[in-house]
Amino acid sequence: MTASPIGREIDRVDGRPKVTGAAEYAADHDLPGLAHAVVVTSTIGRGEILAMDLAAALAAPGVLEIYHPGNNLGLLTPPQNMPPPGMVENYAPLQDTAIRYRGQAIAVVVAETFEQARDAAALVTTTYRTDPPNTSLAANLPGEDAPGPLYNVSVLAPGVGSIDEALAASEVVVESTFHQPIQHHVAMEPHAAVAEWNAAGDRVTIHTGSQGTFATVQLLQLRLGLPAEAIHVICTYTGGGFGSRVPSWNDSILAAGVARRLGRPVKLVMTREQVFTMVGHRGQVDHTVRLGATRTGVLTAVSHDADAELPNVGGWLLVPAHDTTDTLYKTPNLHIGQRLVQLDLPPTWAMRGPNEAPGAFALETAMDELAVATGVDPVELRLRNYATVAPGNGKPFSSKHLADCYREGARRFGWSARRATPRSRTDGQWLIGMGMATAIYPGNRMPVSVSVELCADETAIVSTATSDIGNGAATVVAITGADRLGIPVRKVTARVGDSTLPPGAVAAGSQATASTVPSVLVAADDVVTALIDLAVTDPRSPWHDGARPVYANGRLHGGGHSATFGQLLTAVGRKSIEARATTQLAPETAERFEFHSFGAHFCEVRVNRFTGEPRVTRFTTVVDSGRIINAQAARSQLIGGVIFGIGQALLEHDPLELGTGRLAAANMADYMVPVNADVPDIDVHWLDRPDPHVDGLGARGLGARGLGELGAVGSAAAIGNAVYNATGIRVRETPITLDKLL
Ligand code: MOS
Repeated sequence: MTASPIGREIDRVDGRPKVTGAAEYAADHDLPGLAHAVVVTSTIGRGEILAMDLAAALAAPGVLEIYHPGNNLGLLTPPQNMPPPGMVENYAPLQDTAIRYRGQAIAVVVAETFEQARDAAALVTTTYRTDPPNTSLAANLPGEDAPGPLYNVSVLAPGVGSIDEALAASEVVVESTFHQPIQHHVAMEPHAAVAEWNAAGDRVTIHTGSQGTFATVQLLQLRLGLPAEAIHVICTYTGGGFGSRVPSWNDSILAAGVARRLGRPVKLVMTREQVFTMVGHRGQVDHTVRLGATRTGVLTAVSHDADAELPNVGGWLLVPAHDTTDTLYKTPNLHIGQRLVQLDLPPTWAMRGPNEAPGAFALETAMDELAVATGVDPVELRLRNYATVAPGNGKPFSSKHLADCYREGARRFGWSARRATPRSRTDGQWLIGMGMATAIYPGNRMPVSVSVELCADETAIVSTATSDIGNGAATVVAITGADRLGIPVRKVTARVGDSTLPPGAVAAGSQATASTVPSVLVAADDVVTALIDLAVTDPRSPWHDGARPVYANGRLHGGGHSATFGQLLTAVGRKSIEARATTQLAPETAERFEFHSFGAHFCEVRVNRFTGEPRVTRFTTVVDSGRIINAQAARSQLIGGVIFGIGQALLEHDPLELGTGRLAAANMADYMVPVNADVPDIDVHWLDRPDPHVDGLGARGLGARGLGELGAVGSAAAIGNAVYNATGIRVRETPITLDKLL
């Protein structure tokens, strides 16, 4: 009998190749005849290329070719009418002389070696006509005559004429404006691609880090003018994504374009600085949250308006109120408004709880302000406004145990020791504060196909195209396959990260586990059924023409016979037997319930009373995300999310030089992310209560919802709220740096 691996601490199946260096990331691939491409980028924020002097670069050693608007790659402009969030970027790279933002690709230099390409790229000189870029969010707000906002939704109680009226009638009103600055994903692996075409030049294989090989194929086909079958994307190993590897960017687009024209395989690795501009960033957004409540803290009106950056080249349609302000609390009057501000900036893209993390900082800080205004404890305030159905649409949640997250988190953290009055706890030169906030993230699911193959050597192969971006997806696939087949995890090979595998989940929207697990379960059950069919139909089987044997723990039993699946396959002369399954959430289930994961963050900070330096010193997070598949990976994901929160709250910010459109911290020396010294021991706990509806498999399902981004939502607000409790200073513009606390 094999003990179930579900929910246990399972080492990741790809851990050994990763820590020994055997794992090949995109830029590790070498091919015979490989040429190296280096991108040249624009040094102005808007305008036009008047001339490029390429003579010195072309004469440099090893240079093979330079592609630029005058010698372009024939890349295609994607359709302009793609549904939101549309296409990034929305023009064909190197096809025209327009400069749309600072740091845009304007040429690619190709040489025999990387060093030769890099040196030659530095010899390209470009003459521009410079136009002033529109870069200021505040100065470019849509005017009165602009087309209506992206969102302008009010759900009001009967007899209430407007959200303003509801707020005016409230006993207590909190109104706060927040600013979310430009941030970057900074995945550990810089964006890179190796592209190789077949001899006929009609099929291309691309090694590139991807959060979803199918998404990468779909976007590349629009650039290259190829059918999907002609593009093979491989990302067996991917060094992080955080949203930045959902679309395809210039690494894969230009590598494929150059390799096609050059007739040689090409490697293109963006410099770290280029990743900061050529790969979409988290856009800036101004939020105004208005909360109306009774004197006892019962919400009477919730309003969230946002002005969000949308670059002219396209980007993520950030909806900061989504899943936080529109879902979290019970309120009779709700308003969500959003305008998009079009700017001459590099593309934006989804990043780490793209809507939810900025939204939660605004809402959960405002809730803390309401707690102060009403004198109600922040945990009690949230319980007092607990939503048992989704505000706005009245739908029940598929499964919601958030109240227990608050209670368990408060207990583990020691919340009862908190003093509501700021500056009331000190330790020498340190002011000590405690804060809390809620985490919420949509319980997404998408259609996923999985193949499960039983092999004569007593192993099984579970295959799906989803990417393992470091999140542990391959291990989840192996664990669930092993559990369903009743065999040890080490007997299961997980194949992921390849667009020729059965269409898998995109590793985004925290949905890969919830989407993939049900398909693994069904495919595993189906392959067992196929094995039993084989046992009774094949003349070489001991069960031939007899009663159907029973399968358990890798063996067939019955009628006095017993054989492992490997023994049966060997007996009948088969190498393997395979079944493939596709599952998705039934539309009626999706329609009936609101699916979300939840959590509660509790944080202690110390702020130095002389220097203003804030340090996070304790952190407890308790989540409700259904069943946990791998305790080790779940803990790691949640801790990672909280660390993102530390970055959002205290460190991450790329200042924009308005006059030039230059991102001033577009490198890893200036862009601050948390390091170990910024991160305390983070206590992570989960309730582990299966979601009865998320699989759509009834008792066969495991009930796992996503948790990848959950920890990143609300954690920054918990820190900011603790900073307030320590200092009495409310900072509404992140990062909360020491200059704001003096
Ligand atoms: Mo994530 S920002 O949903 O890739």
